Parts: sequence; C-alpha cells; structure tokens
Amino acid sequence: MSNAPLMKSEKDVSGGLDVIKVREDFPILQRSVHGRPLVYLDNAASSQMPRQVIDRLVYYQTHEHANVHRGVHTLSQLASTAFEDARRTAQHFLGAREEREIIFVRGATEAINLVMNSYGRAFIGEGDEIILSAMEHHANIVPWQMLCQEKGARLRVIPMDDAGELLLDEYEKLFNARTRFVALSHVSNALGTINPVREMVATAHAHGVPVLLDGAQAAPHIPVDVQALDCDFYVFSGHKLCGPTGSGVLYGKAALLEKMPPWQGGGDMILNVTFGRTTYNELPYKFEAGTPAIAPVIGLGAAINYLTAIGLERIAAHEQALLEYATEAVRDIEGLCIIGTARHKAAVLSFTLGDIHPHDIGTILDQHGIAVRAGHHCAQPVMQRFGVPATARASFAFYNTFEEVDALLKGIHEVRKVFA
Ligand code: ALA
Repeated sequence: MSNAPLMKSEKDVSGGLDVIKVREDFPILQRSVHGRPLVYLDNAASSQMPRQVIDRLVYYQTHEHANVHRGVHTLSQLASTAFEDARRTAQHFLGAREEREIIFVRGATEAINLVMNSYGRAFIGEGDEIILSAMEHHANIVPWQMLCQEKGARLRVIPMDDAGELLLDEYEKLFNARTRFVALSHVSNALGTINPVREMVATAHAHGVPVLLDGAQAAPHIPVDVQALDCDFYVFSGHKLCGPTGSGVLYGKAALLEKMPPWQGGGDMILNVTFGRTTYNELPYKFEAGTPAIAPVIGLGAAINYLTAIGLERIAAHEQALLEYATEAVRDIEGLCIIGTARHKAAVLSFTLGDIHPHDIGTILDQHGIAVRAGHHCAQPVMQRFGVPATARASFAFYNTFEEVDALLKGIHEVRKVFA
C-alpha cells in the first residue's frame, strides 16, 4: 500500500459516506467566518440543519400551520397528522415498542426534569438513593439533587478512572436496599466515553431498579435500540441531531409512564375537567400539556428521516475515522493533553494545551473560522475529576471532513505560536 497522502476526495469517503455530497445539504457549512471557510466542530453543543429539515419547516409554516389535536378544520388535521407522523418516526428511530411511549418535550433537559418531577416525586422518598455517574452533564445531576433536597434522598456517584471509563465494580457496590433509581449518560458530552449501558441497565434491573439513559450525545451518533438496551427511560434533544432547538424526546416504558402522575397540567393532557376533579388523558398526551412545539417536532421528524436515510452505522463509521485521525494527529503537539481516552469513544476530542486557557484557544481558533467549545461543558464534576478548570472541545459530525481536522491542527499550532 502506498504511503502517499490520500487525496481529499478519497479521504473524505469513509464508511461509504460521500461527505462532500452530504455537505451540499447544509447551507450554513458554505459560509465563512472571519474571512475563512467555516470549520464547524461544535456539534456536541448543537449540530447544523440540512436543507431537507429547513424546507420541511418552511413547508409546514407556509401550508400546514394550525394547533394540533384540537380542530376539525383542514389545517389542524394536517398539522396533527404531521405531528403524529413525527412521533412514529421517533418511535422507529429508538426501536420503541409503542407510539405512546414517545413523549415530545423541549429537549433532553426537560425530559429529565419530567421524569424527576413525576416518577421521582412519586416513588423516591426520604433515605432513598439515586445512582448517577461521575461524568454526568449538569442536566442529569441538578434535577436529582433538587429532588434529594426536597425528599431527603441522596445521590451516589459511580467513579471513573483516568481514561474516563466508569468503574463497573464500584457501580455494582453502590446498590443496596435503598437504591431507587439510576440516571446515566449513554455518551459523555465532555469526554466522549460510550458507556456500557446495556450491561449497566442489566445490573440495575438485577437489583429491581429502573434506569434513565441520557442519550443527548448518543442518539445523533450511534444506533440506539431502547428495547435491546432495556432501559426504562431514554432522552435526547432534537437540536443535536440536525433538528430544531426546542424539540426533544422522552421515551418511557408504557408500564412505568402509566403509573406516573402528570407533571404539568393544562390543555390536551385531560379527558374531563370540572372544578371538583380532572381526569387525565391517556399516553402520551398525559405528559404533553399545552400547545406543543409543533414546528420543531415536525422538523425533528424530518431530521430523523434525514439521518436514517444516511444510516447511523455509516455516520458512526465516518465519525470514528475522523476521531482516530484527529487523535493520532494531535499526539505530537507539545503540551496537548487529551481529556478522555476511553476505549469506546464517540467523536469528541476534549483537550488542554499547556497552561493556555481554553477560552483563549477557542477565541484564536474562531479567528481562523474554526468553531469549538471551550469551558466546563456543563459538566463541572468532570473538570474537577481531571483537575482542570476547563477544556477546549472539538466535537465531530458526519459532515465534517479530514481536511477540517487538518485545519484544526493548523489552528492549534497557531494558538501555540501566539503563546510561544
Ligand atoms: N450539552 C451541550 C454541550 O455539551 C450544550 O455542549
């Protein structure tokens, strides 16, 4: 095999994905920033939207908009059909058994808050314990902490090693007669670690404890099958999955959702209301009070269709190739330290560079048109575990190219020059 560098067109076709063609779907990727072609590597914060999703939103607003589930008129029927189509799309995307197991929410954060407020308040009490991992996003810590404060329950934390892998023996030891719930990230946003959630769910179930998986960083990048994982709840956000902000999904096993009280009260979640008593609607509407985010949900359906047409396996393969290429390439950069070196990782490259503040790294890279996130990534306990105040984080999507990884490397060298 020749050692000659690959040409861009060859390098960019990995995992059977024609990235150059895919990029044509994304109008924003054609723009420049500070006079340089945009290199968008902040996909873990929010991904970009293809024309297919933008067009679906425009079509909906131009031809179909009305409130859902309320009108007999044509537009309301069209909007309701599109909205419920998106629910079926999300059901198939996650491999859920039933449509009514899909609840639309504003995003992963709201989904976790829903479970905490409904399941948590009903079934977790004084002296009870909730297991989380050391790599949770604040969205999967703070709601549970609020519940603990209210109820007198307590959090138990699964530790991780220096690579950013959870210590499964320690996890097992945390269970006792007071354990009531486990809430775990499927993929860490700050480290990229893909947790062995299937085994971890099985461990929890062996102790009779239900599990919520935070799939915000997993659902856009790897195939997810909630029945195979056997998790009790699974949550993700639309805007990290090429969909609109304000859209997201809570999956819950029907048997659990049935047992749970509603969280918010209002229109659509009721069957009958008098001043004396209200009877609640059936699933999933029991958990969807008020006018939902109709356009974002329909856009989310379009985004899922777009991703599944490409194929999550192909997406995962290309992103892995980018991660391996980037990880290998930064190895030789003096002072660069990768935070998060787990064996199974999604395409997240979190790093520090000597004592250069990550905000300075992010600002200088931006001057070169390169968007990365710098900070604690809403995962301060992860920063504390690794003894750093913050990291710079490049997070890749299927529309990123090897050429963009090269641009990142060049950018990092520019940062070093500024501080030399
Ligand atoms: N949770 C998002 C991130 O990791 C915002 O950047």
